[in-house]
Amino acid sequence: MNRPRISLPPTSLIASAIITTLLCVLMAIQTPLTAAQSNTTGTITVQVDKPGAAIPSTQFGIFFEDINFGADGGLYPERVKNRSFEFPVALMGWQKIEGNGAKGTLTVSDQNPINANNPHYLHVGVETAAAAFGLSNEGFRGIGVQKDAQYVFSVFARRDESSPITLRAELVDASGKSLGQAKLGSFTDQWRKNSVTLRATATEAKARLNVFIEGRGSIDLDEVSLFPKDTWKNRPNGLRSDLVQLLSDLKPGFVRFPGGCIVEGRDLKERYQWKTTIGNVAERKLIINRWNVEFKSRNPDRAAADYYQSFGLGFYEYFQLCEDIGAQALPILNCGMACQFNSNELAPLDQLDPYIQDALDLIEFANGSVATKWGRRRAELGHPAPFNMKLLGVGNEQWGPQYVERYEPFAKAIKAKHPNITLISSAGPSPQGERFDFLWGKLKTLNADVIDEHYYMPPKWFLENAGRYDNYPRTGPKVFAGEFAAHVPAKGRPDRPNNLEAAIAEAAFMTGLERNADVVPMASYAPLFGHVEAWQWSPNLIWFDNLRSFGTPSYYVQKLFSTNRGTNVLPVLLDGSPKNAQKELYASASLDKRTGEVILKVVNASASTREVSIILAGAGKVGKAGKAFVLANADLTVENSLNATTKIAPMERQLAISSNPFTYTLAANSLTVLRVPSSVR
Ligand code: AHR
Repeated sequence: MNRPRISLPPTSLIASAIITTLLCVLMAIQTPLTAAQSNTTGTITVQVDKPGAAIPSTQFGIFFEDINFGADGGLYPERVKNRSFEFPVALMGWQKIEGNGAKGTLTVSDQNPINANNPHYLHVGVETAAAAFGLSNEGFRGIGVQKDAQYVFSVFARRDESSPITLRAELVDASGKSLGQAKLGSFTDQWRKNSVTLRATATEAKARLNVFIEGRGSIDLDEVSLFPKDTWKNRPNGLRSDLVQLLSDLKPGFVRFPGGCIVEGRDLKERYQWKTTIGNVAERKLIINRWNVEFKSRNPDRAAADYYQSFGLGFYEYFQLCEDIGAQALPILNCGMACQFNSNELAPLDQLDPYIQDALDLIEFANGSVATKWGRRRAELGHPAPFNMKLLGVGNEQWGPQYVERYEPFAKAIKAKHPNITLISSAGPSPQGERFDFLWGKLKTLNADVIDEHYYMPPKWFLENAGRYDNYPRTGPKVFAGEFAAHVPAKGRPDRPNNLEAAIAEAAFMTGLERNADVVPMASYAPLFGHVEAWQWSPNLIWFDNLRSFGTPSYYVQKLFSTNRGTNVLPVLLDGSPKNAQKELYASASLDKRTGEVILKVVNASASTREVSIILAGAGKVGKAGKAFVLANADLTVENSLNATTKIAPMERQLAISSNPFTYTLAANSLTVLRVPSSVR
């Protein structure tokens, strides 16, 4: 890191402060003081002529975890819950409909299923034929449909030759009113996928899907699906557009996926295995989601007995998502350790080969030519060009010597074959303490590339740690701030609030990440998504229901940082001092060599406005057409919600700068980003 101010001896610091103060005085003499400037309570000096470390494009990314209905019920917009009848309670999500005297049976069977990974299906017997026998699906806390939008109803079906049955799929609202229907027929005695499109006649967040069996006899059904046509890029089996749009708007440098603890599983049998998540959707083997039971004992309301992983959103779709939104893929793989908060099951060290092979195969899947086994598989799925993956995580939030013993053979095997892959290793679940120190010590000696630190701490911690990386070693492993969020106590409500207090604290901390881009090349908030009716964890960056979604104040902080990322760090002095976090002000700056702009980020964590004199030291001509983006509110408890999605969101203003230095009034409780066109002298 070549930021001279950090390495200056104390006397030079004093000298630097004196020079800066003189510079202020000289500049102030050149620019007559206005009444406003006379109230100036501080100076912020950006050393424009001293560009330092490059800021990598990866610095601000996102972390997707299948928690809080993040995948099924969220980003993966399948409307039917338990579509394949593979939940252990085989009819969970389904109800029998027997109206108008109709009678029949619903039995889950496993005789000649559609494939071995999907061994159960529904056998429907109709005893008394009438138009009202069938089954109804409740969706994920209801089924969201938009007026005039189209939904593809599809089903694998087979019937006896002697059963002239047709199916009628109908969407109904909570009162049973029809919202559109369509019929399917011509079934044979062989499993075949059939589909038809329904158009919704009204918008409804809590619709149900009824499937009526018309005619007498029996029919087998599996993979009963209702999928919107409007998906991200209109892909069949695609992702929920509004949620991807929110991600895309962040312009994230990377996407870390698919977790989190679900990578580990409660035991190794339930770990995430990428190979079972690609290819034909009907062949992806469903497993329980680790968050299904996680908080059951502590808070029964938060248990989600219906939380499973269908893997409709699998590794191919994750890579595609990354490509779509211009982010680098960062897959995290199980390293032979189940969740240490759960079973702590370990794969014996002499049985790690399949786990390591999964990692090597994944690299081939992502990057290999079509002449390779896994590169060919990628091409078969529709993507002959490599995904050009550069990052890979070995384990999630593991700790202890057991982790080090497993990381080592992974790193050895991967580096031997793919020296250019940057490996992410774990610093454990806390940002300090014995486990943390142990892992850092060991991983350093193993020349780890990047170590993933996690911080779920109160806002105060984030404010106090805004300078955490100012004195981190400049050699050795880099830091990935892989999971962080300021946790404001819940106090009388079930969730920890996603309010401005949390966002401001995170912003203050992030100024420290940006200042130290050479040490912390990657950072991501956690977790990303939460369904308002099916969450296990709070706070989250984005909340949604079956139709709507919104970004939290923390979302806007992430967005302001990621969309205002310069190319190089610029040193900042507060009141002439290199201490960038003081008197409730936190600052970082960068130069965008692509546009010539100076980008200054300042957090005012105090409850009053602060007038500051901003000095762009060494800047040449300062352009008048600057911009200011301000996230602020006098009330720290302010939050967004489904009904007020942007109650708190950044305001954009033109910034007419006529002098250097210039005065700027920082709003109370604010993150301000100033973009000033400049030319370095
Ligand atoms: O983000 C929620 C959980 O927090 C993640 O699964 C885990 O990595 C961490 O403990």
